[in-house]
Amino acid sequence: LLLCITSLQYEHLSLAGLCVGQRVVLVQKGRLYRARGYHITIWCNVSGYQGPLQQDFEWSIFLPSAPEQKMQIISTKDSTFPYAVYSQPVQNGEIYVERVQGDSVLLHIKELQDRDAGEYECHTPNTDERFFGSYSAKTNLSVISDTLSAAMPRQVLTRAEGDLLELTCEVSKSTAQHTHLSVAWYLLQGDSQAMTILSLSEDFILTPGSSYTERFLSDVRLDKVGDTTYKLSIGRVRPSDQGQIYCEAVEWIQDPDGTWKDIARKQTEKTLLTVRSQDRDFQATTAAVENSLAEGKPLRVDCSVNAQNSQNRWFQVVWLFKGVEVARIDPQGVWTLKKEYEERAVLGQLQVAKESNEMYILKVYQVGLKDKGMYSCQVSEMEKVSTGFSIIQTKMSSGIDVIVKPMESKMQVSVLSSKTPIVEGDPLILHCEVSGATSPLSVNWWHLRKSIIGMEQDGMLRPGLSYQERSTNRDLWLEKVNSTMFTLVIYNTSATSDGGSYKCEVTELDRNWKQAKETSVSVSPLSLDLRATLKSRTAAVKLTQDFELFCQASAPYRITQVPVSITWQFQHNLGANGYQQLVKVMPSGIEWGADLPHFQRKTSVTKTTSSSTLLIHSATEQDAGRYRCEVKVWRSSSQQTGHPAMAAAATVTSNVVGIQVNPP
Ligand SMILES: *[C@@H]1O[C@H](CO)[C@@H](O)[C@H](O)[C@H]1NC(C)=O
Ligand SMILES: *[C@@H]1O[C@H](CO)[C@@H](O)[C@H](O)[C@H]1NC(C)=O
Repeated sequence: LLLCITSLQYEHLSLAGLCVGQRVVLVQKGRLYRARGYHITIWCNVSGYQGPLQQDFEWSIFLPSAPEQKMQIISTKDSTFPYAVYSQPVQNGEIYVERVQGDSVLLHIKELQDRDAGEYECHTPNTDERFFGSYSAKTNLSVISDTLSAAMPRQVLTRAEGDLLELTCEVSKSTAQHTHLSVAWYLLQGDSQAMTILSLSEDFILTPGSSYTERFLSDVRLDKVGDTTYKLSIGRVRPSDQGQIYCEAVEWIQDPDGTWKDIARKQTEKTLLTVRSQDRDFQATTAAVENSLAEGKPLRVDCSVNAQNSQNRWFQVVWLFKGVEVARIDPQGVWTLKKEYEERAVLGQLQVAKESNEMYILKVYQVGLKDKGMYSCQVSEMEKVSTGFSIIQTKMSSGIDVIVKPMESKMQVSVLSSKTPIVEGDPLILHCEVSGATSPLSVNWWHLRKSIIGMEQDGMLRPGLSYQERSTNRDLWLEKVNSTMFTLVIYNTSATSDGGSYKCEVTELDRNWKQAKETSVSVSPLSLDLRATLKSRTAAVKLTQDFELFCQASAPYRITQVPVSITWQFQHNLGANGYQQLVKVMPSGIEWGADLPHFQRKTSVTKTTSSSTLLIHSATEQDAGRYRCEVKVWRSSSQQTGHPAMAAAATVTSNVVGIQVNPP
């Protein structure tokens, strides 16, 4: 029994289980060290008792000066219990007992003084049928000096929103016992309760106040600088930080039961902080380095943000083209583009960039006609929230009209004809020369208003409707001689229908740019100025003499290049039948007339391309008469078909030469 009591007075509570049925009184385990001047408590409770649940407690002290003498302090049952020296403090409430439960109380001393040090006894008057167990327990209390100090000068500070704030708190103690410190910063606003900004606990754990969790570590920090200096830093003050800020230091001691107990507490002077809230307004402006530019030139549209303290604010920028979003840069500089713009960006044709918090750039390296129109930007100020960013306010810039001037063709077309005028039947050759073209070409030749023939980009020929037949007869040809030369050939030209204006029209297919050039062609008829001249050296020939006649065809064109036939005709002086064919000299041979057989025996005929000579041997009376020659020029009706059919194109008759045959 004694063992049980002794153990329970000083040892662990769990041992109480061994003594069930015995009254056990427990008092807070000592020795307790408490600092002078603070409110302290000592607990005491009872278990294993019989009788009412509400037990009574009597507190007494054995002072160090008279350790044998019990001084009664306070009782829950008897108001006359305190000795004279304690009746005043008990009456004033400086010392009182608080009931926690029927069988558990706390002794309170509101302001600890040196005279309160000593050995305290907690006693429970017996309510049991018989004495069994313990009825009191003791603990020692030491009163130590309060050596804790916390200091921060009283100050009045004004900061602009977003500025840095640093406050230092000097904390020191010189307690002989091993103690820990905790330090915390508080904000007082108006009459409301102090808000914790940040606290460093006695076991060195840093915890933000509930209003500061979001800014903890990133914006709000506590650093211990040296042994005694604690520094609070707020990277960017906000209007909500405005108020009175102070620091509180608490000294902690570990009681014999292992718990940490605060024994001293000091608050510093307060710093009055005023936060000048910044101008929340801002402007968004769109500008183009050049807003009227030629197709293919670089376009740069700037979106600038004009805001106070912009480096500490978050902006999102959206570019609009004709009122529709095309690109966006988020507060962290990450960009997103509309599909078509994304594709162009992949090809390196455009770019968006954040140059600074105030300058955002959209670049199109080669502006196209489709980029022409109104550009504007929309800037939103954002704030960081736990899920990312949310918009505070949005501003729209005014629009800027970008003008894109279309590129112009540098293509030039010229038309050359190989020779002109040409004579009917000659091939007409026309060259179309193209320079300065930048894309694939198609070519079309026109005569007057009719399409002759066209050539597609791939070389495919397309004869015009009215030239279908000539194309079939291969009288028509269009050839791409080299990359810049398109040559048209029309064979078998006609004087009546092929003369006039010819036009070569070239199309640059990429942009459907057309250029054309015309030339005028004249096709002379073969009959034009066709002449036949007959000459003789003498008009009077002696009988039996030889004589010679010369027939010359002439024309303004090179008559040597067309087939010519010359027909010699003769009319006897006495003849009444008119001229008769003497001989026909054709390119292919000679054909004697049947009506004048005697000439064939004594006449030789020679022919060049455009002349013929008739040599008549040994003149007789029969040879006297009128001579003339008839010149015919021929042309083939179709040059290229298998059977060239010849057709007389023009006929002319020469002058007449009369020959007399005189007797010798
Ligand atoms: C006595 O009271 C203290 C403090 O109130 C408590 O911690 C302890 O558990 C109590 N003991 C018993 C046996 O009730
Ligand atoms: C209180 O302190 C005195 C003196 O050191 C000691 O003799 C006594 O045993 C202590 N009492 C308790 C309950 O520890």
